[in-house]
This record gives sequence, structure tokens and C-alpha cells, in this order.
Amino acid sequence: MSFLCIFFAIIGIVVILIIIFGFPRKKSPRKPNIEGLDSPEVAKAYEKMTDILPFRLLRKKVLSKLKDFNPKGTLVDIGCGSGNLIIQIAESFPDLILIGIDIASEILEFAKKRALDRSLGKKIEFKIGNVEKLPFSNESIDFIISTFSLHHWVNPLKGFNEIHRVLKRDGTLLIFDFRRDSRRFFYSFLTFVTKVVAPKALRQVHEPLGSIQSSFAYNEIFQLISQTSFQIPKVKTFLAWMFVSVKK
Ligand SMILES: C[S@@+](CC[C@H](N)C(=O)[O-])C[C@H]1O[C@@H](n2cnc3c(N)ncnc32)[C@H](O)[C@@H]1O
Repeated sequence: MSFLCIFFAIIGIVVILIIIFGFPRKKSPRKPNIEGLDSPEVAKAYEKMTDILPFRLLRKKVLSKLKDFNPKGTLVDIGCGSGNLIIQIAESFPDLILIGIDIASEILEFAKKRALDRSLGKKIEFKIGNVEKLPFSNESIDFIISTFSLHHWVNPLKGFNEIHRVLKRDGTLLIFDFRRDSRRFFYSFLTFVTKVVAPKALRQVHEPLGSIQSSFAYNEIFQLISQTSFQIPKVKTFLAWMFVSVKK
């Protein structure tokens, strides 16, 4: 009996690995989708979606990555959305000064309420802002993090240059986002989620499939950052996502 269980468990694991890694990588041109989550319906649907288990697991991964950097001073979360990540950062790093920036006022309202509900209303400042024109003076920020936002930026090069302007000399940028050249399995999965599972408001804006289609491929990140004054980035891929860390 136990031999059979082990046998079927091994077969199951092999099948899952073949499904995920056996599919070739997608090669398609970048297709920008929506910018800010500024419609109330989309903001509400996104806010709900970020509470589900896969998102929570991904945030856990981002937090553990952030711990490797041991950030100090002022940390800004660009495209903070409904604030889940920056709230967890506030709980894990009580000494940081925290600012969440987002282009969409609707989603920031959810973030402010979420922070208040956790008695962190005074700990985190939320500001409306565009990555292309950040509300900070030159060389004033120690650490910038941004998750699932880069693929929404209309002018990513301008965004990177602006982040470079506000970071202190030894400042760090950490980005976590989809990777467009992911295995086709993830496209099939996200097509299913977009067509069948996602709330209507997200389906109407072609999300979450639109997010992976508008994200950058591994090589494109290096090309993009090479046009800025940042140092050479470190890019670590993880299934359909990648971490990009780069020093000023
Ligand atoms: C998919 S959400 C991610 C939210 C959050 N970081 C997370 O991981 O759940 C992307 C966020 O980036 C914001 N955004 C898009 N373009 C932006 C820009 N140019 N400047 C600042 N925020 C932007 C959107 O409004 C949205 O809230």
C-alpha cells in the first residue's frame, strides 16, 4: 500500500513537472495593457484578488527576498496598489520609514483603509504619484520596491530614470514582476483565470492575462536598465516571475 502511494506520488510529481517545464517558452511581442487601477470596479476586484492564497504566497516570497537586503531608512513602494505588501513590510521592519505611491486614487483608498484597520495609519504614508514624476527630492530615498507594477508603466525608461534620481548614492531598487518569456503553461493557466475565474471587472480589462503579456522578457530587462545610469542588474527568475535588483 505504502509502495503504491509513493509510486503514484512520484508519477504525480513527474506529470506536474512535465506540465510546467515541458512547455516551450512563449515568444511574443510586448502588448501594453491598462496603466493605473483607477476604475472603482477594477480597484475593488483587484483588492479582493490580492487576498487569495497564490498572491499571499508570492508576497511571502517577496518579503523573504527583501529580508536579504536588510533595508534601512526610507523605503518607498511604487505602485503599492491596495497596500498588502507595504503593510507586511511595516509589520516585519518596524524601524523603516514607509511611503506607498500609486497613480490611482481609487486603489490608494483601499490601501489607506487596510493600514488603518491594522493600526498602521500613522506608520505608512500613502501618496498619489506617477513613477515618471516622483514626489521626492534628489537622492532622498534609501530603498525602492515595486511589485507587479512595472508592466503597467507607460514609459518604463522614464520611470527607471526617475527612480535613479530619487535614490541615495548606495540606494537599491528591487522589482518583482511577471516575465513575458514564461512557459506556455502559465499563459494557458492565466487565460483560464482571465476568461473563467476572474471577477467581471478584471475580465473586461483582460486581466490577469494582460499583465503577463505586457511584462518584460528576461533579456529586455538588461537592455532597458543598460539605457539608464543604474549598475548592471541582478535578475533571478522564479517560474513565471522575476526579481530584478539593481544598485544606483
Ligand atoms: C497590479 S497592481 C500591483 C499592486 C501591488 N504592488 C501588489 O503587488 O499587489 C499595479 C499597480 O501599479 C499602479 N501603477 C500603474 N502605473 C503606475 C505609474 N506609472 N506610477 C505609479 N503607479 C502605477 C497601478 O495603479 C496599480 O495599483
